[in-house]
Amino acid sequence: MKQKYNLPKKDQDFFFQTIQKIIYTEPFLRLKQYHHHGNISIYTHVIKVAYLSFSYAVKHHLRIQKKELITAALLHDLYFYDWHDKHNGVHLHGLFHPAKAVKNATTLYHITKREKRHMAHHMFPLTLIPPTTKEGWLICIFDKVAAKSDYKALKLKKKALKKITSSKK
Ligand SMILES: [Fe+2]
Ligand SMILES: [Fe+2]
Repeated sequence: MKQKYNLPKKDQDFFFQTIQKIIYTEPFLRLKQYHHHGNISIYTHVIKVAYLSFSYAVKHHLRIQKKELITAALLHDLYFYDWHDKHNGVHLHGLFHPAKAVKNATTLYHITKREKRHMAHHMFPLTLIPPTTKEGWLICIFDKVAAKSDYKALKLKKKALKKITSSKK
């Protein structure tokens, strides 16, 4: 897995230069507080989606706007609550959070119309409208890939903890 996503230095540098403009900002740092999948924070999840989708685009020489892809991937889940919390008053989170993230990103960052489009349909097919850009498709797909690996890691962690706690030694 690691080797598959190893990038040439110039692409790695581009990725880190681009994310640095966002990841140290106050609203983005707040994402560390909220669980996304299991105990993975939204902060970790969106960086993972950005890296996976960017790596795929580089490896496959896709003709896309790479800066837009990274920016939209970082901001695609920009909401400030724990969606597992049943008392937070957020209904149908899966359906409505992409629009919420677009709204928050528009208020808090300078994002382009295209970046909004890349973010808006990432929950397809749960939401009915598919992504309308290549960058949007990458975010939509690697959002699911990242979520799957988060759950897998959580399952492995639970298994390991169970083994450790049940071990007599
Ligand atoms: Fe999402
Ligand atoms: Fe996501």
